[in-house]
Order: sequence, then structure tokens, then C-alpha cells
Amino acid sequence: MIREQETTVRFHVWGSPELSEERVRLIRLDNDGMTYAMAVTEEGYLLHVYYGKRCGEDDLTYLLHLEEGNYVPRHHKREKGGFMDSRPFEYPCHGIGDYREPCFMILDGDGMSSCDLRYKSHRIVQGKPALTEKGVSVIPATFAGSEEAETLIVTMEDSHAGLLVELNYSIFRNLNVMTRSAKVYNRGYRDTRVQRVLSACVEFPSDRYDMVTLNGSWARERGVCRAPLHGGVQAVDSRRGISSAQHNPFAAICAKNADEDHGEVFGFNLVYSGNFLAETEVNDKRQARFVMGINPYDFSWLLKPEEEFTAPEVVMVYSEEGFGGMSRTFHDLYRNHLIRGYWKDRERPVLINNWEATYFNFDQDKLYAIAEQASKLGIEMLVMDDGWFGHRDFDDSSLGDWHVYEKKLAGGLKPLVDRVNALGMKFGIWFEPEMVSEDSELYRAHPEWAIQIIGRELTQMRAQYVLDYSNAEVRDYVYGMLRNILDSANIEYVKWDMNRALTEVGSTTLPAKRQRELWHRYVLGVYDLMNRLTTDYPKLLLENCSSGGGRFDPAMLYFSPQIWTSDDTDAIERLKIQYGTSFCYPASAMGAHVSDCPNHLVGRTVPFETRGDVALVGTFGYELDVTRISEEDRNQIPGQVERFHRFNPLIRKGDHYRIGNPFESSEYDAWAFVSKDKNEALFTFVRILGAANMPPVNVKLKGLDPKKRYLCEQTGQVLSGSTLMNCGLNIGTRGDFMSKQYYFRVAEEA
Ligand code: GLA
Repeated sequence: MIREQETTVRFHVWGSPELSEERVRLIRLDNDGMTYAMAVTEEGYLLHVYYGKRCGEDDLTYLLHLEEGNYVPRHHKREKGGFMDSRPFEYPCHGIGDYREPCFMILDGDGMSSCDLRYKSHRIVQGKPALTEKGVSVIPATFAGSEEAETLIVTMEDSHAGLLVELNYSIFRNLNVMTRSAKVYNRGYRDTRVQRVLSACVEFPSDRYDMVTLNGSWARERGVCRAPLHGGVQAVDSRRGISSAQHNPFAAICAKNADEDHGEVFGFNLVYSGNFLAETEVNDKRQARFVMGINPYDFSWLLKPEEEFTAPEVVMVYSEEGFGGMSRTFHDLYRNHLIRGYWKDRERPVLINNWEATYFNFDQDKLYAIAEQASKLGIEMLVMDDGWFGHRDFDDSSLGDWHVYEKKLAGGLKPLVDRVNALGMKFGIWFEPEMVSEDSELYRAHPEWAIQIIGRELTQMRAQYVLDYSNAEVRDYVYGMLRNILDSANIEYVKWDMNRALTEVGSTTLPAKRQRELWHRYVLGVYDLMNRLTTDYPKLLLENCSSGGGRFDPAMLYFSPQIWTSDDTDAIERLKIQYGTSFCYPASAMGAHVSDCPNHLVGRTVPFETRGDVALVGTFGYELDVTRISEEDRNQIPGQVERFHRFNPLIRKGDHYRIGNPFESSEYDAWAFVSKDKNEALFTFVRILGAANMPPVNVKLKGLDPKKRYLCEQTGQVLSGSTLMNCGLNIGTRGDFMSKQYYFRVAEEA
């Protein structure tokens, strides 16, 4: 519900006997769980008032404490310097006395960078409009119908620069979620450069919070890091052109006492796949300002008269049930209001991917042999990974030459795909459409299509360059090749990979004054192609990947219902990676496969059963040569596939409860998926390191209905939800890396 209210705030100005007063317009957004409030002052400043648990029907303007400190004694006149540098702004600007991190900064026609955005008007619409420019949707965002969300659009104006900025706030009715985004219009008669246009700012009245971020590296993505707020700036960002494995576009501000199940957490996730910034600044008054959006680093966007720029959206989740509550809200939101298309609510096929099985060393017969064996075990799709095109025998050639490597696949794709289909299996294929190898026909024909600075040495990473996706001609050409392949056989899945960051960021087609736009234009180009692909092939299952989970962000989920979580397939390392990933992203989106041991990256050997149980938390599959593993392991596959089919609806649609914490303990990890009606639950326990002379591990379940009684399929025991959650289960294991799974269903209502 979005409402407004006009009030008069009266207060004493120091040194004056008379009361001062100011007319203030309060706008508040409420749902059952939370309230967000802002106020417009007489001078048109848009101030933040409150964000948190739902509050009462009171006049909240007292929270503005307008009386304090910011008036010139005896003059009743606002002391602007002090006011600007201490007030909580909804969308702070640079250059007018607020010295904290701004959201908005320009370079106007006179070369001036100051900007003063004041409230002009607002409107309220039912539902949640798409993020558009000139009426065309340009950037991924969550969606909601008119019954599900309501949107406040506040128009701010800088009349001096001739700019309008629209601030969008959508509040969801049944989820503790708000989204924010910003859109700039040049309504002046001169060109303006937008130097910074962040999407959201949330002011916290104190610094008594911690900040949590998800940091890592290739094959070690999304480790959970928590640190207290302190004076100055704390930030994570990406300057790589992709959202990155190093830092996820996520941050949470949480109460000091917040933990997995309790306490206030404010989670923020940017729906964007390029350079981002998530930053908290604590000022001299110990107030904390959190901002998030496109990274202003090396960003500059020329806005000509009548042009528009749309900044991506920040998803804001409020939880009073700790990080677990935050994650479950993100999961519900992304499953129902972000992921789209044919596969949104469908179980995904159990796949076998040949990357770790063969790397580049395969041909049609080898792939067929894997598929043939796999089909007997119940696996439903063969995915042919890297190495099927151009003359690619290693990772140093052929990207951009998307035609079949006849030496490996004589006669093209169709013979292989037909044979695989005849086994009753689907067929999927790997592409890396954003790239070009130096050794490729494409690069030889069009060296100017690579992102580059003419005259400078071009940096190679994995012997490849990045194509200039800001150039529609490049996109069209690549898409033509993709279509040829996709139309040449019955291909039902694509793994879209992206294996390097951007360097020498320049385009051979953009004019000098627009070169700094390439970072963002590149990302928009990627979205354009993904949009075309998913529109033209509506039933295609698209899985994103970027050297594993280097682009695991909400904007990718808008196009692909699943993302390859990490190149690290070791089940024990995966405990941490999947734990961190689940902070924002649902299990239905996490690509997880059983791979061979010793693990190719880590060198660790983990029981096949544990590998299966860990991979079950995601879109399940295999990444091994099923013809070469031991008979004993192979024999377990049909049972694992059966368990996947049985439990996937629960895992895909249920509530995810993290119970162990692999970042804090190497004793065990555990989690549960509980159905929305709380009638069934799947509980998984992984013993990490064994220990001698210790009692069984006692683990308390979560998320059950305390009053219901549950039958445990494995033990035959019937216990109430309250007993299972308060007294726990005793779990005895021997050895390292052992896993156990328990399935509970309601036995009888109490
Ligand atoms: C990346 C992906 C892998 C695999 C290889 C192929 O590293 O993350 O899964 O597809 O590329 O080169």
C-alpha cells in the first residue's frame, strides 16, 4: 500500500523564542511485514524517513528531527551546509554540500559537475512497469501483476541542468521486497554527461550494523564475509565488465545480533551483469549510507536532449528472521517474479556433460558411447561442451567460428543428435558467443570486431578476445551462426559461457565521446542477444556460465532459469559455494553435477553417494565419463536419478533452510528443504571431517510445523516437528565426507 500525508512539523530553532514550522509531505510504502517512508520538505528535498519492520499508523515525520542543528540561530533559515551533509537523502547528488557518497553526478554543458535534484511530482501505479527507454524494455527486472505489487514513481528535477530523474519504488504485497531503480531524462537543450547514476540509496540512522558480502574467486565463488561497519567507506564492486566471481552484486546490512535465523537483515541484490558498486559509508555523525548501482568507475554516458538512460534495479529484501529469512524471500521472488519462460516451473532434465569427461578430446563415437551408457542409467540429456567447432583441439583457437569441427563430428551435428535422440535423450550444446580467438576465421576477417584500443597491444586471456557487443552488426553476425547451428539439429539446451574479463575497453565504431559507454553498452548487447535467443527458441533450456559462476547474478536469471554454479565440482568445496550462492539464489537455479574423483581441481576423493547428495541441491547432472567409472559408482546412478525425480519438486519449490555453516565448522554441514505446506521435508547431512571417541552429532531441524508429527522414512520414527526442531536428530557417521539423507512426511495431524 502506498499512501501520502501532509503534516506541519513545528520546532524550536536555537536562539529563537518562536516556533518554526515546515510543511512536509510524507509518503509511505507498507505491506504486512515492512514499512518504507520518505518525506518531501518545503524546498523539495526528498529525505529518507524509515525502512524496516512494519510500523504503526503514526505520523513518522518526527524521525526527520528537522529541528536539530540545521538552522541559523534567530533567522529561522535553514543552514544549508550542515543540513545537506547530515540529512538522509533518498537520492543524494554531488556538489551541493553533501560530501558523502552520491547517487548522481553529471558534467553539464558548461563542464560543471554539481547537481541539485528536487522533488517535482509523484504518481502511483498498480503493478510494476518494465524498465524501458522510449517505451522499449531495455534491462532485466523483476515483474509483478497489478495485484502483486504497487509502484511509486517520484520525479525529481534539476531545472538548471534541464534534467529529470525518475525514482521507481515497487513494493510487493506478499513478500518483504522492494525494488528501486532510476531513470534520467535530458529535458534541456544541451548535451549532458551522466557520470554516475546509481539505483538506490538507503540511509541507516546509525552505524550499529554489520555488512555482509559474497566474495571469492574462480572456482571459489561467493564466500560469505561479514564485517562491522566502521567510519569511512566499505565497498565491493566489479570493474571487470561482468558481475564477477570476485564479488557478487549483493550486500546485506544486518543488526549486530542477526544470525541465520534471527535478527534484522536488509539484503540488496543488483539485477545487472556488468560493473557494479555496493558501498556503505559511515559519516562523522555515525550514520550509515548504503548505495548500489552501476559502478561509476570509468563510466560516463552522453545524454543528448530528449535522450533517456535507465539504471538497473536493486532488489531490497527485509528480513527479521536473519539470513535464512532473507534468502527464502529472495528465492520466492526470483522463482516467481524474475525467472521466466517454459522451464520456469518445470523439472529440468538430468544431464551428462562431457567437459570433465573428455575435455577437448572427443569425437562422435566417444560422445555417443557416453550417451548410450548414460541413457541406460536414466540420464536424460547429453550436453556437448567446448571443442565441437572450428578446429578447436585446445583452448587457443576457433571461438567465433561456430560451425562444426568435421574431424570430430563428421557430417555435422544432426547424425549425432539423431542418435542421441534415438536413445530417448535430449541433446544440448556449449557456446561462448561473446568471444573470438585470435586464431579464428572470424578474427582474421574482422579484427575490428574485438573490443580494443586501436594501436595498443590487446591483452589476451585464455588466448581470446571479447567481441564488441555494442555493435549490432557483430551481434547479428554471431546470432546468425548460432541460429544455423541450433536449426541444424534438435538442440534443446544451450550452455552460454563467458570466460574472460574485459580489457582495453574501446570500440572501433563508437565515437570518442561515447567510448566510456562501452562497459554498459556491452552488457545491453549481451541482454539483446539472450533476449533474441530465448524469444526465438522459447522451449530452449538456457544455462548461463562464466568460467563457472563468474556471472551468477539476477539479470542472468531473467534469461536462463539456471546457472553453472562453479567449475569446482568437489562436493566438499561445493558445500561452501552452494551455501554462499543460496544467500540470494534458489536451488532451482544452481547448476550442480556429480563429477569424477580424485576431483580434477581439488584432488580430493569423496564417496559417490555424498557427491550425489550435494549435487541434488540444484539442477542435477553428471560431469564424468560414465563408461569409465567403477561399476560400484555407476550402479548408484539410477538410484540418484530416481531420488532427483522424487525430491526435485520439493527442492525446486520448497523453502530452503541452512542448518550447518561450512564456513564456521569443518565438523558437518546440513540443510533442509521444506514444502510450503510443511507436510514434507528433505534433510541432508554431510559429515565433513570424522572424529574419534565422540558422541553422535546432534542436529536440530528447521522450518517444520511444530504441531505436526512427521514420519522419518529412513528410521521409521515418528516425532513431532517441535521435537525435531528443539531436540534434534542424533546422527552417527564414520569417516570423512559421509552424507545422510532423511525424508520426513506428515504422519498425522496433532
Ligand atoms: C568454462 C566453464 C566450464 C567449461 C569450460 C570449457 O571454464 O565453466 O564448465 O565449459 O569453460 O572451456
